[in-house]
Amino acid sequence: MTASSSDTPVQIYRAGDRAPQLTPTLTAIYSSVYAEPPYFWGKEHAELFAERFAAQRRAPGFDLVIASVDGDVVGYAFGVTLQPDTPWWRTVTTPVDTDLVTERPGRTFALVELLVSRSWRRRGIATRLHDRLLDGRPEERATLTVLPEAEAAQHAYRAWGWRRVAQKSNPLPGAPIFDVMIKPLRDAA
Ligand SMILES: CC(C)(COP(=O)(O)OP(=O)(O)OC[C@H]1O[C@@H](n2cnc3c(N)ncnc32)[C@H](O)[C@@H]1OP(=O)(O)O)[C@@H](O)C(=O)NCCC(=O)NCCS
Repeated sequence: MTASSSDTPVQIYRAGDRAPQLTPTLTAIYSSVYAEPPYFWGKEHAELFAERFAAQRRAPGFDLVIASVDGDVVGYAFGVTLQPDTPWWRTVTTPVDTDLVTERPGRTFALVELLVSRSWRRRGIATRLHDRLLDGRPEERATLTVLPEAEAAQHAYRAWGWRRVAQKSNPLPGAPIFDVMIKPLRDAA
């Protein structure tokens, strides 16, 4: 579907319980979005996405938020709660404080994916997906990884209060280096 009018109603809703049925749709959107620059990812990445999503949708704290227009998915965001034995911080390539990389039960929500189909961008859809996904999370902070060259995402995350705390090699083909970002989810006690 292509964007016809800036007033087309976009629905934003939680759909964690429909993750299994939505997997083919989410994988297809992932493939088309990440075929674009600066990613140029292909079939291997899409297969990895589907494989990992099968585990992520069963992980503690999993939640999924969908953006749809007339029943068609045009964007989505999802994440999980990091567990104390998470490999998340193991591949950090920059100096970090021990406290930053120490996971306690329920400390950190990982925003695993956030994307919007090309023809629906710059209408605030990612902002709404992001805010809905993080709304009411019980964790004290959220983390994500983003490619340094991903200009739109870098701008968006900074505008939404995320800050870069490290870099790490991501578990993707070629182990590319990503920025690791953090956002506090509530005021420090
Ligand atoms: C990043 C992405 C999700 C943003 O989606 P979107 O729906 O267009 O974002 P929004 O309309 O909510 O814009 C939010 C903010 O992002 C920033 N932004 C979005 N696109 C931008 C661009 N092309 N250049 C610079 N800043 C941009 C702006 O700060 C914008 O706020 P503003 O419009 O008030 O200035 C989308 O570009 C995308 O799917 N990119 C490919 C996938 C990706 O990189 N995902 C992130 C993985 S970590």
